[in-house]
Amino acid sequence: MKGVVLAGGLGTRLAPLTNITNKHLLPVFDRAMVTYPIRTLVEAGIEDILLVTGGTHYGQFVQLLQNGEEFGLRRLHYAYQKGEGGIAEALGLAEPFAEGEKIVVMLGDNVIEDSIKDAVEDFRKLSSGAKIFLKEVQNPGEFGVAELTGGKVVSIVEKPKEPKSNLAVLGIYMYDNAVFDIIRTLERSERGELEITDVNNAYVARGDITHETLEGYWGDAGESIEALLKVSLHVARKQGMKL
Ligand code: DAU
Repeated sequence: MKGVVLAGGLGTRLAPLTNITNKHLLPVFDRAMVTYPIRTLVEAGIEDILLVTGGTHYGQFVQLLQNGEEFGLRRLHYAYQKGEGGIAEALGLAEPFAEGEKIVVMLGDNVIEDSIKDAVEDFRKLSSGAKIFLKEVQNPGEFGVAELTGGKVVSIVEKPKEPKSNLAVLGIYMYDNAVFDIIRTLERSERGELEITDVNNAYVARGDITHETLEGYWGDAGESIEALLKVSLHVARKQGMKL
């Protein structure tokens, strides 16, 4: 299975820091944000990774990550997203890279501690479909929120005003190759983006989606300046810093 890390978008919620660099190059404790999802994928046994980014700071990614040797990769692949048309638009750029294989996707601002290796292995065995990750949170309205019936996901709503559960959909997704056909059918949302939540709901409609619940830590470091600080503090403390 191949891996895709999505690190495009404007990151306006982290302005003015994002006026001078891409959000995913900002530090989370002692490393750039984007290195956390790359490490999670590599630890899960993914050896072929595509990084999608855009904007004016594209070159800084290559400067920092080069061929991915730091992560034990032989080569890191790059794709450029023109504009910021949404997570699903960025993912659509991975089609030639995927070459018909299943993919595991991580958002470049998501930081987790648990291994997703077992979930990747489970998904590898499935012949089709999608797998998403859920976690109970106190502020579900900030994320995609899943509604479950009989233990199955029956709908996902993006940043609902009145969330039907406290289960946030995390920025880790596994898809079969049909995802690219689904992306082609999407229409832009009110915020002008191709939404990953619409992709996931297409798999819900097909009855071909499973989910895992993440027990350990999850941080969306790109949500706000406060979140960036909180995730940094969490990582630093985990590494023994007395803060
Ligand atoms: O973190 C989990 C949440 O991520 C999910 O619960 C939501 O369902 C999902 O929509 C997403 O919400 P965000 O509001 O956090 O998405 P954001 O616009 O911050 O984009 C997340 C990442 O996706 C970002 O770090 C880089 C990538 N991205 C985003 C856009 C808009 C791209 O690569 N290209 C884009 O055009």
